[in-house]
Amino acid sequence: MTTLSTAPSEAAAAAARTAHVYERVRHVIPEVEWPAFAEDVEAIGRLKRERNAVVLAHNYQTPEIFHCVADIVGDSLALAREAERVDADVIVLAGVHFMAETAKLLNPGKTVLIPDLRAGCSLAESITAADVRTLREQHPGVPVVTYVNTSADVKAESDICCTSGNAVQVIESLGVDKVIMIPDEFLAKNIAAQTGVEVVTWAGHCEVHERFSPADVRQLRREHPDAVVLAHPECPPDVVAEADHSGSTAQMLDFVVTRRPSQVALITECSMSDNVAAEHPDIDFVRPCNICPHMRRSTLSTIRRSLETMSHEVRIEDQVAHRARRAVERMLAV
Ligand code: 13P
Ligand code: SF4
Repeated sequence: MTTLSTAPSEAAAAAARTAHVYERVRHVIPEVEWPAFAEDVEAIGRLKRERNAVVLAHNYQTPEIFHCVADIVGDSLALAREAERVDADVIVLAGVHFMAETAKLLNPGKTVLIPDLRAGCSLAESITAADVRTLREQHPGVPVVTYVNTSADVKAESDICCTSGNAVQVIESLGVDKVIMIPDEFLAKNIAAQTGVEVVTWAGHCEVHERFSPADVRQLRREHPDAVVLAHPECPPDVVAEADHSGSTAQMLDFVVTRRPSQVALITECSMSDNVAAEHPDIDFVRPCNICPHMRRSTLSTIRRSLETMSHEVRIEDQVAHRARRAVERMLAV
């Protein structure tokens, strides 16, 4: 006679032990899916304690990362500020490579890990340090304002960095009437419209936000006439013009939490809505959204492996780091 085991599987047992963690995501992850995440969530918790590590996660990370294993979450600006203050020995950056580099620049004594080295960014890949030197030759004396979505090499050639959350303040802090703003053409044009400062742009685009069109927003309004539409400033200017409000991911979150619209459309990466919806189930999120394949390189299993193997460590050559850090620190001082 065969005896069937009644013992729960490891995954089911882990799911039971982590039921309190599941509560954070129950509105966006079906209960039946939780056992597939639970073992990794437990293992990452244990590894963080053993390694004295923290996980920093961008707002575009999926809910099981964002709500269940991250210690610090935010937009690019918040992650930079928080990375500088981290006391733990190890920082795992659940995001993309430029974010991990920024963390390393600001806290060089720590071990900074990125779970998958292929987590790039179409904006960071659109420009090189040599391109910045050429721009300077073409526009002598014009300061270079560089979006943080760039490599450390490019930051090192820059006067100051900015994020989508502080670009207006950074530009106004310079007190000039013309800047070179690289590499996001759409962000530069959207910000220029708010400052009256002339901008020299570069033809870099975010592959996620450039896909939205004004027709998408108009269709959304026809289908959901009550929805408040928020667009990230990496969207084309004609998309931002159709929106009710534009801001960084943290500014979108702030808008939703403080104004509490009953229905909202976030014209940005898909996980953003999922993460906000997890905490605000009373708000209806309409989702015309696009996925960033680079952000999706971080998963619970790549984060777990990163902590198990202490890879992939981010290193920046001293000469470059010194100059790049200056541009980032100048931004943080604004
Ligand atoms: P923020 O979170 O700074 O708005 O940036 C969006 C983004 O595309 C990061 O890659
Ligand atoms: Fe880069 Fe766009 Fe992905 Fe952000 S969403 S990492 S800007 S490709």
